[in-house]
Amino acid sequence: MKSEHKLLIDNPFVVGKYVSKEYFCDRVEETNTLIKHIENGRNVALISQRRIGKSGLIEHTFNQSAIESRYYTFFIDIYGTRSFAEFIYIWGKGIFEQLKTRDVKFRERFAQIVRSLKVGFSFDVATALPTFDLSLGDVSSPDITLDEIFEYIDSADKPCIVAFDEFQQIANYPDGERVEALLRTKIQHCKNAQFIFAGSKRHLMAKMFMSAAKPFYQSVLTMGLTPIPYQSYLKFAQEKFSNYDKSVSEDVVEKVYNMFDGTSWYVQMMMNELFALTSKGENCSVDMIEYAFVNVVDSQDMAFRGLMDRIPAKQKQVLLAVAKDGEAKSITSGAFIKRHRLLSASSVQVATKALLNEDILTQENGAYRVYDYFFSAWIRNNF
Ligand SMILES: Nc1ncnc2c1ncn2[C@@H]1O[C@H](COP(=O)(O)OP(=O)(O)OP(=O)(O)O)[C@@H](O)[C@H]1O
Ligand SMILES: [Mg+2]
Repeated sequence: MKSEHKLLIDNPFVVGKYVSKEYFCDRVEETNTLIKHIENGRNVALISQRRIGKSGLIEHTFNQSAIESRYYTFFIDIYGTRSFAEFIYIWGKGIFEQLKTRDVKFRERFAQIVRSLKVGFSFDVATALPTFDLSLGDVSSPDITLDEIFEYIDSADKPCIVAFDEFQQIANYPDGERVEALLRTKIQHCKNAQFIFAGSKRHLMAKMFMSAAKPFYQSVLTMGLTPIPYQSYLKFAQEKFSNYDKSVSEDVVEKVYNMFDGTSWYVQMMMNELFALTSKGENCSVDMIEYAFVNVVDSQDMAFRGLMDRIPAKQKQVLLAVAKDGEAKSITSGAFIKRHRLLSASSVQVATKALLNEDILTQENGAYRVYDYFFSAWIRNNF
């Protein structure tokens, strides 16, 4: 994923993936901090609200020459995994996939050391390359595979960095406590790797890393991530427009940035659309924002319908009520319940808990709102 992709991209406001330095705004300080921690042999927990740029920051850090030239890096996203076996499956697969573009010897040794996964290894006669076709059912003894993966990492000729994205997922495994303790022990004894644990469920991450009763307690440095500073983003946005012979008014960037409190994903979604709506040689002005917003919400119509269909009726009522209010305070109060014709305080409480857990609602400073700004608008348009 290097700059050779440059010419293929016709919209410089990239959403949903990390492409290269060129399309990545700022995070200079955070990248340096992360590099410094790693160089000092520290493990890091990276914790922030969703869609602010944790995964991007890790990939960007891995992409720096100081890291790339000296470490083997592995980015392992365990989002949606439900068991330790699945965790091991994703990790093993992730290592193999990410080795494809690297040192052949290192890759071949993977097959030799991680013997418990050998059913998944085969050899592509046409390309003369090893291939890895593993399914979850092939991970029959995850504890053994875990040992082998660590053995492999320890025997690498360069130090490794392993980033687990959405690490809080482990807390939901049936044997989560045991897995946490096991990983902690293995990681503690691992001399050849540094670990980054990223997660967005703040309470779960905090519990894992800051609670004295938990295995990971005091074993990592904790790093938060706040929105990209407005001035940096403004400069970035204006540069991107001008690189394509377009321009954007400062008040557009300011308004979009503030609409979403600077949360990267939403801001980039809007700027991507605004960029597309602006012709070459033209200026993007404030009056285009509303139209762009409608387009962005519309483009997710199918996804939002699907999401809405999966929400149980009682939760849906509460969700609609919160969306209507925008920012909803004291949602278990009689006034809120009456105004929105809800059932009872206790049923609102149960529904809210589930919606928070699913990241559909969020709570900030005592008020609730729909987490996804576009979903919120979509609900108001459709209900
Ligand atoms: N520094 C940046 N420059 C440009 N775009 C960015 C930057 N950081 C994040 N983004 C944009 O925001 C999106 C979300 O970022 P990212 O996936 O890194 O967030 P996250 O914190 O990992 O979110 P989640 O908790 O949902 O996994 C990215 O796909 C990208 O479009
Ligand atoms: Mg992420």
